[in-house]
Amino acid sequence: MALRSCGSVLITGSNRGIGLALVRELVTGTPSPKVVIGTCRKPQEGKELQDLAKKYSNFRVVQLDVNDEDSIQKAVKEVEGLTGNEGLNCLINNAGTNTMASLNDVNVEVMMSAYRTNSVGVLMVTKAFLPLLKKAANLVSGMGVHRAAIINVSSDSGSIQLAEEKLIYLKVYPYRISKTALNMISKCLALDLKSEGILCIAFHPGWIQTDMGGPLAPLTLEETIPDVVTAISNLEERHSGTFIDWKGNTVPW
Ligand SMILES: NC(=O)c1ccc[n+]([C@@H]2O[C@H](COP(=O)([O-])OP(=O)(O)OC[C@H]3O[C@@H](n4cnc5c(N)ncnc54)[C@H](OP(=O)(O)O)[C@@H]3O)[C@@H](O)[C@H]2O)c1
Repeated sequence: MALRSCGSVLITGSNRGIGLALVRELVTGTPSPKVVIGTCRKPQEGKELQDLAKKYSNFRVVQLDVNDEDSIQKAVKEVEGLTGNEGLNCLINNAGTNTMASLNDVNVEVMMSAYRTNSVGVLMVTKAFLPLLKKAANLVSGMGVHRAAIINVSSDSGSIQLAEEKLIYLKVYPYRISKTALNMISKCLALDLKSEGILCIAFHPGWIQTDMGGPLAPLTLEETIPDVVTAISNLEERHSGTFIDWKGNTVPW
């Protein structure tokens, strides 16, 4: 089933970059999910999100800092109120931070900061939203975004198998290692939640021009986001526990 016509989608880190483009694609497109929730750390500063919320009644902005347990719990309560008995169909863990550091520069602080947001934060957000995902999963059968799915936005820079051909990433120890950890988190979640009918994947969105991707990235948001929506829409049971890119291709671990 298409992501565009599922019951509810939540996207973290949606005030800019890939998160904002995904929100825009889903709320302005036809059909549009019954409920789209865009979360960000500072809703009052997310002007484009606020404008979309004024225009589209199925879209809500919710405060969520993935590093703040209080904020996560408040967001869960709010989303529970918005999704009711139908639960949450798709959680897109998109929020992330890119901490650059070569072997020379790397230290405990930058490593822990990358882990906190990109690995631990994603795990804690997912754990907190599990009751809502389970609620949705209990209503139908099969596997995919029509039921309950967790999309962990990772990066091919976290792939151990691709490390030799991606020497460019040697200057980003904290980021890539935190994404490798996120890949294991995704695999563990997929195995743990399989019996509950909840799908989980690690997802590489492509190297895209955003604040994080930079101006030299080969892809634009305009050309890539529709493919991202299609790749997520096409997910089924066989994909759970795999690493997939924006074209739906498997990424080596
Ligand atoms: N762009 C690429 O080429 C590329 C490639 C591979 C993977 N990715 C992944 O795709 C995702 C989105 O990347 P992007 O390019 O859109 O990056 P971006 O433009 O830098 O946006 C990052 C988003 O994450 C949010 N965020 C950071 N820390 C957060 C926290 N503690 N709690 C909540 N939100 C937080 C930011 O919010 P604030 O505005 O509050 O900082 C922002 O909304 C990331 O996970 C990234 O690793 C991107």
